[in-house]
Amino acid sequence: MTATTTPWRELAHHLADEMAADGVLQSPAWRDAVEATPRHMFVPRFYVQQQDGQWTETSADDDEWLAAVYRNEPLVTDLATTTNGNRVTVSSSTKPGLMVRMLEALDVRDEHRVLEIGTGTGYNVALLTHRLGDDRVFSVDIGAALVDAARSRLTELGLTPTLAATHGAEGFPAHAPFDRIIATCSLPAVPWAWAEQMREGGLVLVDVKPSTHAGNLALLTRHPDRLEGRFLPRWAGFMAMRDADLAPEVVSVVEDVNTGNRSSTRREPTPWSSLVPWFLVQARMPGEVAFGYRGATGQGPEWAVFSTPDGSWSAVRVQPDENGEREVRQGGPMPLWDAFEATHETWDNLGQPNWDRLGLTVTPDGRHAVWLDEPDGEVSWSLLPR
Ligand SMILES: C[S@@+](CC[C@H](N)C(=O)[O-])C[C@H]1O[C@@H](n2cnc3c(N)ncnc32)[C@H](O)[C@@H]1O
Repeated sequence: MTATTTPWRELAHHLADEMAADGVLQSPAWRDAVEATPRHMFVPRFYVQQQDGQWTETSADDDEWLAAVYRNEPLVTDLATTTNGNRVTVSSSTKPGLMVRMLEALDVRDEHRVLEIGTGTGYNVALLTHRLGDDRVFSVDIGAALVDAARSRLTELGLTPTLAATHGAEGFPAHAPFDRIIATCSLPAVPWAWAEQMREGGLVLVDVKPSTHAGNLALLTRHPDRLEGRFLPRWAGFMAMRDADLAPEVVSVVEDVNTGNRSSTRREPTPWSSLVPWFLVQARMPGEVAFGYRGATGQGPEWAVFSTPDGSWSAVRVQPDENGEREVRQGGPMPLWDAFEATHETWDNLGQPNWDRLGLTVTPDGRHAVWLDEPDGEVSWSLLPR
């Protein structure tokens, strides 16, 4: 039987089996939700970026669409054009395995009221509503058209959770208190407004990322005076929260990499090759770090470039020389790469602790303390408020 002739329930069943085999789908309640939710109704089309940067669209008219929608993959579902004319992703359907991993980690009970930040396609709202019922599920997205589309898809399935087009950093005060908050976009910091809308003992699961790739999912418990908890052991990355129902600006970086002070490094110059130290160094960065590439060689991009809004920048050659060294150029008020090297060394000396040893405490004054092993332990980093 081909994918186009396979009934969707069978495809959803296979998807559930795959997630169970990966160890992420564990409870019968979430298996029921996955098997009962037609993902194809939430992803009527998706976009794939080609090598040349152009996007192609696959929709219900295309043969490969149905099978693709039931694969355990994230799918880009909405694009927008920036003022510079670039097409950028503004919404996607999260990889089902990640969604389910988060729902399992949230420890949702039948009587819970759950707020999701980042409605997107509405697929995750459908899972939650199947599990908890219409009256216990709330979801917001900054994209008004996204919310409208999600609402009509859910209604078609007979599901009527409460949705609104609003900035997720504000939570959804009209419907508080919640027992759980799950964010499916990343934030540089956890808004205290969420804590205020949370029952004591409630949980927030959010991707904390002060800069691109710099952070991970944190599961935080609401205490009277703080939110506190640990990062999940496995890394995940969501698209960043945006401040308006518009495409985000593409941040421009340094003019000419050859003008900066010169040094060298033996480290890989991409954030994802050192995720934990790249997160920890955010405590020293003068603002959000934009990451991109400059120039081209026969083997790909020439420079990896980091920059912050105060004009600090670092560029590191992507390819090492025959001795394993990479040229570094740095300019502006703060040598960003030097800060990263120093933090990496501290992390090495601590025995390279992974996410499972790191935790986060957020207080009403907006302070974010990242700690090693225990909240009151000897090692901590203070993320600068942005
Ligand atoms: C990865 S998608 C969400 C996927 C979604 N949960 C699903 O099941 O399809 C991230 C979403 O976050 C939304 N978002 C971005 N900034 C936001 C903000 N300030 N407030 C609320 N939602 C926001 C985006 O519009 C996008 O739809």
